[in-house]
Amino acid sequence: MSPARPPIALPAGLTLEERDGRLALVGDERQYGKPLSVDFVSGKAAHRRQFGGGRGQLVAKACGLSKGVTPSIVDATAGLGRDAFVLASLGAEVLMVERVQAIAALLEDGLARAARDAETAPITARMQLRHGDACEALAALVASAEFTPQVVHLDPMFPHREKSALVKKEMRLFRELAGEDDDAPRLLEAALAVATHRVVVKRPRKAPPIAGPAPQHTIDGKTSRYDLYVHRSLSR
Ligand SMILES: C[S@@+](CC[C@H](N)C(=O)[O-])C[C@H]1O[C@@H](n2cnc3c(N)ncnc32)[C@H](O)[C@@H]1O
Repeated sequence: MSPARPPIALPAGLTLEERDGRLALVGDERQYGKPLSVDFVSGKAAHRRQFGGGRGQLVAKACGLSKGVTPSIVDATAGLGRDAFVLASLGAEVLMVERVQAIAALLEDGLARAARDAETAPITARMQLRHGDACEALAALVASAEFTPQVVHLDPMFPHREKSALVKKEMRLFRELAGEDDDAPRLLEAALAVATHRVVVKRPRKAPPIAGPAPQHTIDGKTSRYDLYVHRSLSR
């Protein structure tokens, strides 16, 4: 069990509770489905770690992980830490930044449990978390972690990703907390100011790039795309 936390403000109808030894976000199951928690040890994260395709995965290619190149990465839209965990499991040092306190608390709890597991502990040792708004304070958060990011990874919420009736229940719970991230252009600006080598932005495949400077490259996947903003090449 985690030590007592100061209270966290939540939208009406949602609570943060200990469920089966995990911190979980709980809402009416008919509306929101099962409680939401972070699990890096088993389930989808474990499957992806073992069989997910290593450095061939879209997020790894976009962040520039290749043979002999393992950049330091800030994930400034950490969310539930799935992308950050993939990058750390491939050897990258990752600093995660998350502005929604309840989501940061779920992540912190997931990291603490993964740090107690022999297989995931070496991965979480490469992951740090800061709670804060990266639009406002990315440079300060990075400095507080004594971290020099070669790459900044961004995956802001996209307003029209799916029709709301089709949004999976788990995503409804998440969206209730995270909102729609319509300040993504400011986030891109902040990211470009701190990344020494590149900023990478995950977008739905057909969505326009974030308003602002045009990306120099794109990498397309089946359902999503990465836009790459390159300052300089990630050489060995
Ligand atoms: C689509 S989710 C990211 C999912 C994540 N890539 C994963 O693998 O779990 C976007 C997250 O970014 C966070 N976020 C958006 N803008 C932010 C900002 N300026 N600073 C910190 N966090 C931000 C949101 O609160 C939300 O949790």
